[in-house]
Amino acid sequence: MSEWLKSYRENHADFDHPSGIDALGSNPFVAFSTWFDEAATAHEKEANAFVLSTLGPDARISSRILYLKELQDQAFIFYTNYLSHKGQDISRQEKVAMLFFWPGLMRQIRIEGRVQAIDAAISDAYFASRPRESQIGAWASEQSTILPTRSLLIERFEHFDQRFPNEVPRPPHWGGYALHPEYFEFWQGQPSRLHDRKSFSLKDGIWETNLLHP
Ligand SMILES: Cc1cc2nc3c(=O)[nH]c(=O)nc-3n(C[C@H](O)[C@H](O)[C@H](O)COP(=O)(O)O)c2cc1C
Repeated sequence: MSEWLKSYRENHADFDHPSGIDALGSNPFVAFSTWFDEAATAHEKEANAFVLSTLGPDARISSRILYLKELQDQAFIFYTNYLSHKGQDISRQEKVAMLFFWPGLMRQIRIEGRVQAIDAAISDAYFASRPRESQIGAWASEQSTILPTRSLLIERFEHFDQRFPNEVPRPPHWGGYALHPEYFEFWQGQPSRLHDRKSFSLKDGIWETNLLHP
């Protein structure tokens, strides 16, 4: 495998490059929305999936994929278990990094910022909109803790399925986080590895933009 991997290269020269980085303007939220819409229109698979990296004890950094559920009031909203590995990391260190990758468009967006749990009422409303199996699953899974056997998880699912025959309330340990960005970087693949990069850094309430060497 390693010989094959060393010579593995995507040919960006054949790629039909969409609008350049200049079209992004001065507002990173508008720029994000434009690129997100273009990713969705281009049928990028799982366009709303992103990598979230958090800092744990002993400076241990961990990453995992999550779904972005909303961009509202300049905050990126996602949902998870507050007691999970990531939830515990966030409770100690609110600074996180978020990464989107849309390979079909050869685009990457990096976002850094601080996360906070969102209002319970907003989590309640979103939880109520989820399919019943997902709701029961949120009760059944003690996310990131050791599971002795898979059958225990199935038992737990059945237990909560019976406990909540009608409406399923939101578990107190499950809800949303809002990421408030302080830094964005938009990356557009270009031929000859002369890729475009544009950063937006929040300085005294103003977004400062810069181009970066690829
Ligand atoms: C495509 C995809 C989407 C995912 N979306 C979520 C999500 O929105 N929320 C979530 O808690 N886990 C999601 N997961 C599972 C996480 O990657 C991760 O396994 C889980 O949250 C536990 O992470 P932790 O132990 O670091 O807290 C998703 C996984 C994949 C592959």
